[in-house]
Amino acid sequence: MYSSEISGFYKLSVKERLSLIQEKSGLNQEELSVLKNFGYFKPEEMDLLIENVVGSYQLPYSIACNFKINNRDYLIPMVIEEPSVVAAASNVARMARKMGGFHSESIDQVMIGQIQIVDIENINEAVEKIKANKERIIQRANDQDPILIKLGGGVVDLEIRTIETIKGPMIVIHLLVNVLDAMGANAVNTMAEAVAPYLEELSNGQVFLRIISNLATHRIAKCRAVFDKEMLGGSDIVEGILYAYAFAKADPYRATTHNKGIMNGIIALTLATGNDTRAIEAGAHAYAALGGYSPLSKFDIDEHGNLIGELELPLALGIIGGLTKTHPLARISLKILGIDTAEELAQVAVALGLCQNVAALRALASEGIQAGHMKLHKRKEMKRKSI
Ligand code: MEV
Repeated sequence: MYSSEISGFYKLSVKERLSLIQEKSGLNQEELSVLKNFGYFKPEEMDLLIENVVGSYQLPYSIACNFKINNRDYLIPMVIEEPSVVAAASNVARMARKMGGFHSESIDQVMIGQIQIVDIENINEAVEKIKANKERIIQRANDQDPILIKLGGGVVDLEIRTIETIKGPMIVIHLLVNVLDAMGANAVNTMAEAVAPYLEELSNGQVFLRIISNLATHRIAKCRAVFDKEMLGGSDIVEGILYAYAFAKADPYRATTHNKGIMNGIIALTLATGNDTRAIEAGAHAYAALGGYSPLSKFDIDEHGNLIGELELPLALGIIGGLTKTHPLARISLKILGIDTAEELAQVAVALGLCQNVAALRALASEGIQAGHMKLHKRKEMKRKSI
């Protein structure tokens, strides 16, 4: 057994780290050469992204076809390892396309920065003082990011909340920040940290946490589409989907898997565009849990028996900053999508999530997903034999 205690591992070059890992774990030459294959990244570039890098991890990059969203066509890049997902989304997108496509609403790009104030002698007095100085606090926050302000973003409001906790009452300030085309964590965290000393002064309390909330309830993406009954497979399948929805609405065990199907699409696009998948997942499931864990989508039928689907969830997706800027494939994804605002990216993502959800429910309400997987598996086996 090797020891995992390695001091200064981060200081080594990628090459040195690789040989150390090889030595400790007994990787053979073949395994080592897989690790060494950095693909389109140079090892030094990868090394700049995070710490202790020894390799890069590849996943399939696919394109979902047939999407019409807000009367525009989109080819959607998806990074996902699961078979059937991309094929099913492309297939079901045709069923919405026939009925006019997906209609995604406009989305405010507003994120919440939370500042926690504790140990306050007089909560009411502190709240009043913070209220009275709201504009000054907003100004101090906005002073942190003149470029964001110049482009039309910045703090749009400030909310004062008081909460009871196991450590006593606290004041929680919400800075509501229009982050425009960014995911927003950097801008919001910088602002939250900058106003903290002033909030301590006003409240006579102590600030601990100053951080973005991933429950982005001011950045909600909403989408609606009608799916052609005949293309779905007839009224029995539509009925099956409505039963599946009823099941998910009544049972959190099922709602979790129902929402997982939605996130199959959304996370694949989140990854393809270099966005933070953990932030999107956390926000989506917290939103689903606000009134008791529920499905994020809704279903009904129109007067002709076609399926009407709706989806809403927070989507903090950016197109500038972090990996969205530095990952070469993230830039290519935006080019394939033909997108130049974060709002449009979220409008596409919510449509993809709805489509993926219908695709999963359709499969579950008919042959079951294993049968679909088996067909794909057979096709893959045939292809593999011909390689
Ligand atoms: C599998 O990745 C996703 C599904 O389980 C979603 C669902 O059950 O709705 C098929």
